[in-house]
Amino acid sequence: MNAPQKSEQLNAPHTNAAWHARRLAATPRGVGVMGDFFIERAKNAEFWDIEGRRFIDFAGGIAVLNTGHVHPRVQAAIAAQLQRFTHSCYQVVPYTEYVALAERINELVPIDGPVKTAFFSTGAEAIENAMKIARSSTGRSGVIAFGGAFHGRSMFSVALTGKVQPYKAGFGPFPPEIYHVPFPCHCSSLDDTKRAMEQLFKCDIEPSRVAAIVFEPVQGEGGFNVIQPAAVKWLRELCDQHGILLVADEVQTGFARTGKMFALEHFGVSPDLMTMAKSMAGGTTLSAVSGKAAIMDGPAPGGLGGTYAGNPLAIAASHAVLDVMLEEKLPERAQLLGDRLIAHLNAAKAKYHRIGDVRGLGAMVACEFNDPTTGSPDADITKRVQAAALKRGLLLLTCGVYANVIRFLFPLTIEDAVFDEALTVLDAAMAEVLA
Ligand SMILES: Cc1ncc(COP(=O)(O)O)c(C=O)c1O
Repeated sequence: MNAPQKSEQLNAPHTNAAWHARRLAATPRGVGVMGDFFIERAKNAEFWDIEGRRFIDFAGGIAVLNTGHVHPRVQAAIAAQLQRFTHSCYQVVPYTEYVALAERINELVPIDGPVKTAFFSTGAEAIENAMKIARSSTGRSGVIAFGGAFHGRSMFSVALTGKVQPYKAGFGPFPPEIYHVPFPCHCSSLDDTKRAMEQLFKCDIEPSRVAAIVFEPVQGEGGFNVIQPAAVKWLRELCDQHGILLVADEVQTGFARTGKMFALEHFGVSPDLMTMAKSMAGGTTLSAVSGKAAIMDGPAPGGLGGTYAGNPLAIAASHAVLDVMLEEKLPERAQLLGDRLIAHLNAAKAKYHRIGDVRGLGAMVACEFNDPTTGSPDADITKRVQAAALKRGLLLLTCGVYANVIRFLFPLTIEDAVFDEALTVLDAAMAEVLA
């Protein structure tokens, strides 16, 4: 009973500080919040807080807003659906738009052969269901994931996640038969992964009991680590050799972010199952699992679904998102803006020796900050650059196993003038902290 009484709440000022205090009293610390300001309204790549302050949004609600805040097409689609119905539970009374969206996604995903798609609500839920489908269709239980991976916060998805703090600490024991090997990217070699896999098959589980290997084509929370192309081909061969399913988690990489509709298109490898969420529905709650039809049909009727899975408002939004992505050529725009940002960051790197690796795929771009003498990750400087940008009204996110990476997740629909303004702010923030 420590929350303000109703009468006190009515008289409380509508300021960021007042709401911040109320948040701390009313909600648990486990729901960590980065900002101490509250959003009032938003448009494309900008938003305003409840005190009228403007921000440029280079976070996109963590990769959800590839089509920007409140895209008029998405807004209109949701509004039209609101006039018709908001819920029937697809498993009770189906609606045609769900089926039509599945057909569209089946055409788009880089999976060979006949494909089927099922819808859910969150990324974690998509991962959970992909694992259920993999286990049910193979009759096997083991799952292999990668160090530095992030697959969600539900019990199975967090068990697959390869980062202890803050995601796993204190929440175990986790479901058994989940294993991690090093992720082959710029900071770890494919040979390390091969050796770890060999060791795993020798010491922990025989390959014939492994249902799936799950990977992100570009690790998101892990630091925007792009998987080595040779590693994707090797994973495919390994899976084929042992009857293991290859599962690509495209929750963060999907829907035009990397310069293609899906990141796997860069690698020329077809997975067996794919998970997607985030930018697929313009900020409404929708996720999906797509996969080879025979595998998707593994679970019996009733084994998949959920009360809200494939909610009609989100399905309507997703149809509009796909229209916008194709009509506004967002994959091409992602590549263009990503190239510009990488060039900009490389110019900054030439000036400031604390900037380490600059990397990315399309517009999924990040840069590292390291101690120039030891080369070790510098989370403190990274935080200070983020804070200096925020002070000037540019919202940036950090990531990485060592929290020394700034990642850029601006809407791909961002106006050129706003994008240029953001780069100028970024320059000023880096000059303040790094010069
Ligand atoms: C690659 C990946 N998979 C799964 C998830 C979990 O998605 P959600 O937070 O919607 O459960 C995320 C979220 O950041 C993610 O980046």
